[in-house]
Amino acid sequence: MSELSLEQLQQELASAVLDTPEAVEAFRRRWIGRKSVVAALMQRIREIPPEQRRAYGQQVNALKAAAEAKFREAVETLKAQELEAKQAAIDVTLDGVPLEPGAYHPLSVVMQQVVSIFRELGFETVEGPEIVDDWHNFTALNTPEDHPAREMQDTFYVHRHPDWLLRTHTSAVQVYEMERRRPPLRIISPGRVYRNETISARAHCIFHQVEGLYIDTVVTFADLKQTLYTFVQRFFGTGTGVRFRPSYFPFTEPSAEMDIACLICHGKGCSVCKHTGWVEILGCGMVDPQVLLNCNIDPAAYQGFAFGMGIERLAMLKYGIDDIRLFFENDHRFLSQFIGQ
Ligand code: PHE
Repeated sequence: MSELSLEQLQQELASAVLDTPEAVEAFRRRWIGRKSVVAALMQRIREIPPEQRRAYGQQVNALKAAAEAKFREAVETLKAQELEAKQAAIDVTLDGVPLEPGAYHPLSVVMQQVVSIFRELGFETVEGPEIVDDWHNFTALNTPEDHPAREMQDTFYVHRHPDWLLRTHTSAVQVYEMERRRPPLRIISPGRVYRNETISARAHCIFHQVEGLYIDTVVTFADLKQTLYTFVQRFFGTGTGVRFRPSYFPFTEPSAEMDIACLICHGKGCSVCKHTGWVEILGCGMVDPQVLLNCNIDPAAYQGFAFGMGIERLAMLKYGIDDIRLFFENDHRFLSQFIGQ
């Protein structure tokens, strides 16, 4: 190497062909850095007679600059070629990777269906809080402290706050709305409710309800029946049989429960309908005058009806689901069956 003259090196540099990564790497080792021929030429500057040093130094520096420029250019060219090769490898005619569509949770599906049916019947959707005080969940709803009806619903109380609880029914929203606004009122309120129950295929400590409330100057039990009858025909299909049975709720008088003809056995009798041919889907009744009074509405001027239904129950009947726990497990095999609903 040291034998090569500057001119020879200049020629070698000029004729180097850097068309592969290997050639570029070999070039780098020979021409760039501390062990390169250029560095060796620099070292030799001390052996050069002083009067020639300046010219020699300029020539070596020019060689160095030329080597570096050639190297940089070669690296750029290689990079560009690599990119071009990569782009050429993309086959734009290939099919795309299919995206798996998401699905609404079946409870959301049913909730939306219920809300939209009642919206068409003129009901406005409102929401209330899930943590409520005793007044909104019980007392205003004509269920004072010592009332035996409290035993009907096992309540979760908020630790160290005996007055605060997780609402046991969406009926609490009725009270909020009647306190907040003046009649006429025509609302439904979907949401989560809580009861301290043992979890089984039929019961859960969390579930969902939709509450309905209609208050105006003239509202009759016939309006209640027609509204709920229409709902059932639209939700479960025309021709679905319904029946009303007398029942009891502290906040309605008279009270009723509504059954639909069992969709599983069509009235022949099965385990879902406990061999009666009928399945209960909701509680309802005319709002008790005492409840109106509690909310500062004059029962002499206004009357109304209310109803409350369980969303899980509706979903189980409509889609033939036999275990309420499925709604809360988030098992993909279950949820994916509702894609497109
Ligand atoms: N809140 C009652 C329940 O949870 C249902 C209901 C609502 C009954 C409104 C009558 C009127 O069982």
